[in-house]
Amino acid sequence: MTLLEIEHLTKEFDGVTALQDVTLQVREGEILGIIGPNGAGKTTLFNCISGMLPPDRGTIRFRGEAIQGRKPHHIARRGIARTFQIVRPFPALSLTDNVLVAYGHRYYPRLAASTGAFRTRASLEAARAALERVGMPAGHERQAGTLPLGLKKRLEIARALALDPSVLLLDEPSGGLRHEESQQLLDLIRRLNQEGITVVLIEHNMPIVMGVCRRLVVLDHGVGIAEGDPAAIQKNSQVIEAYLGKTGV
Ligand SMILES: Nc1ncnc2c1ncn2[C@@H]1O[C@H](COP(=O)(O)OP(=O)(O)O)[C@@H](O)[C@H]1O
Ligand SMILES: [Mg+2]
Repeated sequence: MTLLEIEHLTKEFDGVTALQDVTLQVREGEILGIIGPNGAGKTTLFNCISGMLPPDRGTIRFRGEAIQGRKPHHIARRGIARTFQIVRPFPALSLTDNVLVAYGHRYYPRLAASTGAFRTRASLEAARAALERVGMPAGHERQAGTLPLGLKKRLEIARALALDPSVLLLDEPSGGLRHEESQQLLDLIRRLNQEGITVVLIEHNMPIVMGVCRRLVVLDHGVGIAEGDPAAIQKNSQVIEAYLGKTGV
């Protein structure tokens, strides 16, 4: 079944066409990879899906309902969660409070700034469960700013999970990580997918993309230039020209 259906999506910024007539589908249960060179429009695609930017033209349907142009909290509540290319937890808050803020967004969007209101027993249990689900080591009351990058990325995923999403949009989760940390993150992504979460993964690390995704969409200069399984994409001459030839794979 198609979970997300994106048609003719176009977004321009002062003369730069970040997305041009992009059409793609996300199928329920899959891990879809989005690849392409820097500036291809990958993050803009996530910004449009998650409601952070309104597209200029085109439609985004989630379970058949048009969601383009809706506000981020509306889209998050529908079950689409995202992480950011540059991690942005609240550094002075504890890990638990970072998740509680996200959890609180689901029910009390206006109160999100004052985490005290969320410290109910049920929400604390949900936060702990989200942190355990991503394999966060004990010490959930330490400040998020003290975490190494690999664990900050896990925290970001835990915050996204607090919304109980059916789709997780991950923007370059392995960026800046050491090989072993990337592998652990990859295992986590696979496990979440096996638990039923559909994943859309923007990723530069080709071994990761090829290892975890069964289907890829390639963007270049805002245009969808190819779609297919990893083996077909690796042989696609347009993709090699635009992107793979430059990554050394
Ligand atoms: N908020 C913005 N304002 C102006 N230009 C932007 C903005 N976001 C993205 N762009 C431009 O849109 C293009 C696509 O960017 P982006 O979606 O970040 O690409 P990618 O994530 O594939 O590297 C780039 O040329 C970028 O400079
Ligand atoms: Mg990006």
